[in-house]
Amino acid sequence: MTPEAMAALYAAAFPDSRPWTATEIAALLDRPSTHAITAPHGFALIQVIPPEAELLTIVIDTARQGQGLGRALLDETLERAAALDASCLFLEVDMTNAPARALYGSAGFEQTGLRANYYAQADGSRSDALLLRKALSPAA
Ligand SMILES: CC(C)(COP(=O)(O)OP(=O)(O)OC[C@H]1O[C@@H](n2cnc3c(N)ncnc32)[C@H](O)[C@@H]1OP(=O)(O)O)[C@@H](O)C(=O)NCCC(=O)NCCS
Repeated sequence: MTPEAMAALYAAAFPDSRPWTATEIAALLDRPSTHAITAPHGFALIQVIPPEAELLTIVIDTARQGQGLGRALLDETLERAAALDASCLFLEVDMTNAPARALYGSAGFEQTGLRANYYAQADGSRSDALLLRKALSPAA
């Protein structure tokens, strides 16, 4: 998947956020610590600096959300992080993002912190970021 395709998926999935440009995504992918996990209708980006990995983003095409694709992509992402010698994956999620919170909760992520008023909302209000973490089993 090209950085342009990733940028288009990202912009559609986060209509209220400043979009990540294809140039910014390409620059991220140029870093040896950044890894892309791609699927037919979405992608995830992780930054791995063992023993930790961070989920930078995970996006499913808006037309394909709610069909289990996010779960499958997250499972693949967890496996990739473990294969890259990470022993945990952490992330930040907007506490108003119900689908993402459901996804991470059922995948076994636990809250480790909270950043108050971290995200700007389209209506001018602000929402908290939850910091979540999941321990990874060593890769087989
Ligand atoms: C978050 C996202 C990746 C989830 O992918 P998805 O394919 O839509 O999700 P799935 O169909 O695999 O469902 C995953 C879980 O979320 C739940 N879910 C899906 N849509 C939901 C909704 N609208 N409201 C509440 N829960 C929802 C499902 O019931 C499922 O829960 P379960 O694992 O307990 O059964 C996708 O919705 C997305 O791209 N959102 C926009 C970008 C984003 O917010 N990324 C995460 C940033 S931290």
